[in-house]
Amino acid sequence: MFFKKKQIEKIDMNRLPVHIGVIMDGNGRWAKKRGLPRSAGHKAGADSLKKIVTACNKMGIKYITVYAFSTENWSRPKEEVEYLMNLLLSYLRDAENTLAGENVVIRAIGSRAELSEEIQEQIIKTEKFTANNTGIVMNIALNYGAREELTTAVKAIVEEGISVEEIDADLISSKLYTKDQPDPDLLIRTSGEIRLSNFMLWQLAYSEMYFTDKLWPDFSVKDLEAAIIEYQRRNRRFGGV
Ligand code: FPP
Repeated sequence: MFFKKKQIEKIDMNRLPVHIGVIMDGNGRWAKKRGLPRSAGHKAGADSLKKIVTACNKMGIKYITVYAFSTENWSRPKEEVEYLMNLLLSYLRDAENTLAGENVVIRAIGSRAELSEEIQEQIIKTEKFTANNTGIVMNIALNYGAREELTTAVKAIVEEGISVEEIDADLISSKLYTKDQPDPDLLIRTSGEIRLSNFMLWQLAYSEMYFTDKLWPDFSVKDLEAAIIEYQRRNRRFGGV
């Protein structure tokens, strides 16, 4: 009897990406296609995210960074910004129960000062609550922009009076929100857009890029597996030969 190999069996579990970055794009278009408000797309996007994080954790991926709200997203209509902020708040609250139960460590990266006090407090609570978990680290990029991150890093270096001789790539990495974490091996962007949109510009220097037409709410565990299989087909040379 011949059995077709299941997709997940094609993944080499010894060569998994350690860190995956995700630009979760296409929520609005997903909703529009169904005649629903954009908020319904974001809600479906949040559900999709939970499934993907859970699957990554089960597989043994160590870090995932997801772009939830960029420093540029404030320019969206007020109701949409409000909806996203409320969704994030309830996601963080809920994550204390569901994702924490799955051993996920949750962190927020980005500039916090512009976020409401309620969200800032919830971030601290959720981070504290999940800090001792031992599973995947999930960075939620929230009011995140790579240029803001790098600008803040430069200011810190100057303020700390660090000498020119001491400044190197490792020093700069140590001033970013992702300090102490490896750079992403794989970046996934959904919805057919092929750009970085100010996401982890420093950390993505040698990452493999995977773009798919799937809209984020439709991005399934099968699609995640396909992305990892494609990643494993690539030959990473890091500038060597
Ligand atoms: C891009 O889709 C998506 C966002 C700007 C927000 C991402 C948010 C989520 C996936 C859900 C919330 C996340 C958490 C952590 C609760 P878009 O609105 O730009 O879609 P479009 O390009 O089709 O309009």
